[in-house]
Amino acid sequence: MCGIIAYIGQKPAHEILIRGLHRLEYRGYDSSGLTVMDKNKINTLRAVGKVDNLSEKVNDSWESKPAKEATSGIAHTRWATHGLPTEENAHPHTDNSGKISLVHNGIIENYQQLRSKLESKGYKFYSETDSEVLCNLISELYNEDIEEAVVQALKMVEGTYGIALVCSDEPERLIAARRGSPIIIGLGEKETIVASDVSALVQYTKQVIYLNDNDIVTINRDEGVTEIFDITKTHVSREVEEVDWDLGSAEKGGYEHYMLKEIFEQPEAITNTFRGRLNLDEGTAILSGLNLTPKKIVEINRVLIFACGTSLHASMLGQYFFEDYAQLPSNVNHAAEFRYRNPIVEKHTLALAISQSGETADTLAAVREAKRKGADVWGLCNVVGSTIARETERGIYLHAGPEISVASTKAFTTQVMVLLQMALKFGRCHRLSRSEGVKLCQHIESTPELIREMLKEAENIKKIALKYKDYDNCFYIGRGYMYPVALEGALKLKEISYIHAEGYHAAELKHGPIALLEESVPVIALANDVDGKDKIIGNVEECKARKSPVILTATKGDEEVKSLSDDIIWIPEASAPIAAILTTVALQLYSYYVAVARGCDVDQPRNLAKSVTVE
Ligand code: AGP
Repeated sequence: MCGIIAYIGQKPAHEILIRGLHRLEYRGYDSSGLTVMDKNKINTLRAVGKVDNLSEKVNDSWESKPAKEATSGIAHTRWATHGLPTEENAHPHTDNSGKISLVHNGIIENYQQLRSKLESKGYKFYSETDSEVLCNLISELYNEDIEEAVVQALKMVEGTYGIALVCSDEPERLIAARRGSPIIIGLGEKETIVASDVSALVQYTKQVIYLNDNDIVTINRDEGVTEIFDITKTHVSREVEEVDWDLGSAEKGGYEHYMLKEIFEQPEAITNTFRGRLNLDEGTAILSGLNLTPKKIVEINRVLIFACGTSLHASMLGQYFFEDYAQLPSNVNHAAEFRYRNPIVEKHTLALAISQSGETADTLAAVREAKRKGADVWGLCNVVGSTIARETERGIYLHAGPEISVASTKAFTTQVMVLLQMALKFGRCHRLSRSEGVKLCQHIESTPELIREMLKEAENIKKIALKYKDYDNCFYIGRGYMYPVALEGALKLKEISYIHAEGYHAAELKHGPIALLEESVPVIALANDVDGKDKIIGNVEECKARKSPVILTATKGDEEVKSLSDDIIWIPEASAPIAAILTTVALQLYSYYVAVARGCDVDQPRNLAKSVTVE
């Protein structure tokens, strides 16, 4: 997804802007650009491809120019939505008068009508983008008061935006605004940084303001944030918050890829999800952030979960947990389906939105739909201050730390762990006994150590991965808790190695997919010693009868499965919910080693973005 960074202060802006763009690269993009305000002259450079191309342009074009000394500016990484990834379509965009420069995240739905109106007034456009239209709309409404022009323009916009802009008539000022696309204000010493993602500004300051939808902020070089108001120009106050992680945790920390780092961070990340949240005496989870009495909990009669991608797979395990531990009817919805299919939401339904980024457009839209239908909507997010986190009545942060790699790893396992704790808490308000609760608390507490034990299998997993790296197809099959794990394992492999991998419920094979099995189609069968294992063994035999190579995940010490395959990934013995987490870690490693062996761009796979903030 697109990224924004803007700066106004005392230092050369271009250095801070380029460094910020590098921090935003992980979000996925195909072009970039920056504008610096040299006194009251706009200097803009844009480039297709990597940020390094832009950096080169800055050095070549501004070698000895005052632009390099300019101390305010805006910059952007673009992930093409309207128009191809070309220099003309890259941001920042400049209006016809040459006075206003703007960067924009989001989609303006009514940009065509606005463009036609502007063209009828003589405006010319050099790009295909909706963002250039917004820039000229502000210009059209600008009459010596840039703030007023921005407010009036944004009132005419339908759709989503996160913007930052400068105007050459007011070089001491920077303006930013948001609706549906995050904008964070970093408050420094005589400097202010605006970004769409905390990782682009956290090295300068941890004091931040998260704008809400329809907020507009005006920033002055020396005074910083001078005012925040809403679209009706009513002053609003937003609290200053402290970012709870530092840049170090967003760096690779010696690992070759962010993905590998984040896989190996899971013991700590999982610990963070339950630290201070378990009550072993009572055998329950505290989750004080939910601020809920048992009376409120027992009123909940159904849990409805919606999410996308990896978060959807975590949701599926959550459904099993709510049913198994709290006897609560639950169901999982693709967020994109939920938002459009006029869902049935009954009284006392709890709606759960699960999203690592907290910015996924379909999940955010599903939140709003569920609220419209009267549900209590909670959010399970990793990014503090994200839109979903702030638009849901209650929620639980994953505290997994920043997840930079596009492929979601620690977000999945921490989501599952939080869902398990919720089911524990709810279960103890229903039929889950204290002793069962205590046992589940102990299983939760043992998870970090079991993950460390799992991670010690990395070399064995790598060996198996190298043996199968050249196959262009792969099936993953599982049952019960291992079914969502099979889906997640397949998603990991396909999204970073580009192998056509599919996850199936093992019983589904004979309803069609088995037609595809042959020597060139290996099958990864999740044969852990949990419910469903006996049936999986039968499915493995079916696959072998079609000459498919079989890789097993199996519980350490399980002699019964040894003869089934030469390639077994041994998983430490654990209860079903924990085994699901451990097996996922194993499959994360498997897909990582295959992708690296295939020379793929593991952290920024082609066509993908870290946060899908558009439909
Ligand atoms: C998973 O590896 C992908 N990056 C993708 O499926 C992701 O899980 C999905 O886009 C949802 O993102 P979210 O959790 O930030 O909402």
